Amino acid sequence: MSRRIAVLASGRGSNLQAILEAIAAGALDAEIVGVFSDRADAAALDKVPEALRWSASPRAWPDRAAFDAALADAVAAARPDWIVCAGYMRILGEAFIARFEGRLLNIHPSLLPKYRGLHTHQRALDAGDAEHGASVHFVVPELDAGTVIAQARIPVLAGDDAAALAARLLPREHALLVATLRLATAGRLAERDGKAHLDDQPLFSPLSLDSTGDLTRPDD
Ligand code: GRF
Repeated sequence: MSRRIAVLASGRGSNLQAILEAIAAGALDAEIVGVFSDRADAAALDKVPEALRWSASPRAWPDRAAFDAALADAVAAARPDWIVCAGYMRILGEAFIARFEGRLLNIHPSLLPKYRGLHTHQRALDAGDAEHGASVHFVVPELDAGTVIAQARIPVLAGDDAAALAARLLPREHALLVATLRLATAGRLAERDGKAHLDDQPLFSPLSLDSTGDLTRPDD
């Protein structure tokens, strides 16, 4: 049965685009049931029909909790099986996270637990890392701290700057997100006791994206 996916996005929406393309290609058995943004001008919104768009400025609400509650009601009304934060640039409050616990994913451009938060590419370069990457994780109230499901790795090359590194990582991010959603929509992923589970087995370390776009267990 086709699974229902809601996407939260604040910006350009290339990850959303990758999900839409995978669905159109028959590579992901899912449908996008809503795109939700804290910015009315987010390019991500334009990628879906108007009936699927929701956006509101947080400034229109008295505080973060009130905005989050409105967002959560809108998301819930779309009846998603999975909710994906893909470049959603606001921190979600505890009530929002609790309401969608176990089906709320985020894609983050670093090899977590390294570099939570912003400027991940520059921070990887500044640290002299030989490798960089992206992670998909379950969302918990602490920023970018939830259990990591899967990662994609790329080498850092001599001469890379943050923009070059980000550009080289982006297509791998897209493949990572789609591959993770394939597991999620097949009912193979779950979060239990704060741990990611694949096929009912706890994941002790993240799955890894191979060159064909498949996810493998680290000990495979
Ligand atoms: C991606 O790098 C994602 O990992 C990060 O924000 C960026 C969003 O890009 N969380 P896009 O809006 O999906 O193009």
